[in-house]
Amino acid sequence: MNSDLRQRRKVARTALPTAVLLLISSAVAVQSSAPAAAAETTLRAAAANAGLFFGVAASPNRLYPIVGQEFSQLTPENDMKPDRIATSSGGLQNTSGADTLVNHAQSNNMLVRGHTLVWHSQAGALQGASQATLNTFIGNAINRWGSRIAYWDVVNEALEDNNTGRRRNQWPHSMNRDANGDGDFFDAGDTDVIRDSFIRAKQVVQAGGLTTKLCINDYDVDGLTVQGGTPNRKANALYDIVRNYRQYIDCVGFQAHFNDNPNSIITDDIQANIQRFADLGVEVHITELDIDDDLSNNDIGAGQAENYRKVVRACLNVAQCTGITVWGISDSESWRSSERGLLFTGGNGSYQKKAAYHAVLDELNKGRNSTPPPSTPPVTPSVPPTTPPVDPTTPPPPTTPPTTGCSATVSLNSWTGGFVATVRVTAGTAPISGWSVQLTLPSGATVTNAWNANRSGSSGTVQFSNVSYNGSVNAGQSTEFGFQGTGTATGLTPVCTAT
Ligand code: XIL
Repeated sequence: MNSDLRQRRKVARTALPTAVLLLISSAVAVQSSAPAAAAETTLRAAAANAGLFFGVAASPNRLYPIVGQEFSQLTPENDMKPDRIATSSGGLQNTSGADTLVNHAQSNNMLVRGHTLVWHSQAGALQGASQATLNTFIGNAINRWGSRIAYWDVVNEALEDNNTGRRRNQWPHSMNRDANGDGDFFDAGDTDVIRDSFIRAKQVVQAGGLTTKLCINDYDVDGLTVQGGTPNRKANALYDIVRNYRQYIDCVGFQAHFNDNPNSIITDDIQANIQRFADLGVEVHITELDIDDDLSNNDIGAGQAENYRKVVRACLNVAQCTGITVWGISDSESWRSSERGLLFTGGNGSYQKKAAYHAVLDELNKGRNSTPPPSTPPVTPSVPPTTPPVDPTTPPPPTTPPTTGCSATVSLNSWTGGFVATVRVTAGTAPISGWSVQLTLPSGATVTNAWNANRSGSSGTVQFSNVSYNGSVNAGQSTEFGFQGTGTATGLTPVCTAT
């Protein structure tokens, strides 16, 4: 095994909760001394060798032996949703289905993902509830199962459809208030149901000494782009949320319901997108994977299998992508059965493996590696923020102390052969009306495109300056621009000058 692979395994292991460690430790130990282990014959065993879980959405009436044989993680498909278990005052009811699933998972040595606490859909008696009532429910639900739940989807599907990059405007997000009118909900004076729900969930986890990790989950957030190379604004918005609330959010779920909607297709930049979230320090999971067979011209086989390979490979290539969950066992029992999007045919406990199953198993058996991601098309953030998100709690320290003028910090998402850099420009103690940032790239690195900035030069010393809408920055406030390049760009030291 090469040292890169060993290092990735190490990172993956440290990122995983104890339960996963128990699940995979023996397999990993064998792997590290024996590079060519025999191919595993179940999804869960092959995944364990690669240091991740492979899970399934399940219901109490479908707990057939295959669940524990093939899968190492279980998400209740419907039994932990508020419409099943919440009372209007945030209490619990009808938990027997959820209990059955948690017990089944435990006796089959499977992790559980709790799904889900705060969601506009399937809200049942909680529909329209206040944040205080949501907080009561969050406390009751988390405490009911405690550390038996490895991951909780605290907030589900907070972002609007159609790649707008906006929050939904229906309840519970209708409770949000943008106090200073700067276009985001990240400021201390703002009201944000995402932030407040995560703060509550984090309190409960800490008070109980629980190992449960807290996740945000959404769909159409899988790639950096959507069809036609358009930036994935929904993914960018999710990224901003995680970056701003990193202290409360431990993990990000990409639902990965792929179909032929232009915003739901499989793009080549899924791995790069997973990587940038991983670089924020969160675990990433593929949480509800199904792939509409239409995406492969209805060939019911090879094309769909290749699509599964792509998605599984994207996760395997990022050490912090620690689990993949398919949204059901077989096509006929899927929530979207007409799309034939899963790994098995058949039903009622009698299942046949599809080509997609064999592809996934084969890909998992190859393990994690450092195959570079395909080159990604230019990424332009969604709506350029006039006043960008401000981290209410932990703004990154500037490289030079802000006086008058400006300072700049850079954060990098890198992969073998390429990188995306995000540069934050912060005004000092006085407002500025324009800025320029100079950076010297290491030799071999070349900038291929930039956004939210004008650029001169592409290698060596490169100069960026504000565009029309982001030159004015108030005292102590920040704006961001980004650029993408080939090669390696470590150790960048941006120098900011107010103009
Ligand atoms: C779906 C279930 O699979 C269906 O059985 C139910 O009727 C509707 O919800 N995103 C989610 C899941 O987060 O909870 C949804 O599950 C699928 C989309």
